[in-house]
Amino acid sequence: MQIDWQQLRDLANAAMKKAYAPYSNFPVGAAALTTTGELVSGCNVENASYGLGLCAECSLVSELTMKQAGKLVAFTCVDKNGNLLMPCGRCRQLLFEHSADDMVLETASGIKTIAEVLPDAFGPQDLDR
Ligand code: THU
Repeated sequence: MQIDWQQLRDLANAAMKKAYAPYSNFPVGAAALTTTGELVSGCNVENASYGLGLCAECSLVSELTMKQAGKLVAFTCVDKNGNLLMPCGRCRQLLFEHSADDMVLETASGIKTIAEVLPDAFGPQDLDR
């Protein structure tokens, strides 16, 4: 599948502008291409009860699920300046659960596979053993 990284970055930046991040002042936007060819995106949504804040990846995965848009093929994430961001550890796990084989992520250190950013991942397969 052809990946238009510029299109994904544009979508991530548009999502970032919708972020609700009054506590950290660190708006984040994420976007992904899925196996159905659809695009999904998300922004962080914080809370006065600080620990309850949702990362941008959470709303992205929620849109993926609501759209029934398959698995994640390619993913990008940006900060308020449009600079690429690595997903936090928790969100790598979240993305892994919904990743297509060989899902790729655009990072500051280049294109990486999901296995590279979350090696030896715990996943659904472990629950079957
Ligand atoms: N954040 C994300 O949305 N995704 C990440 O992968 C890294 C961190 C958010 C959480 C919080 O609202 C803000 O960035 C500062 O940590």
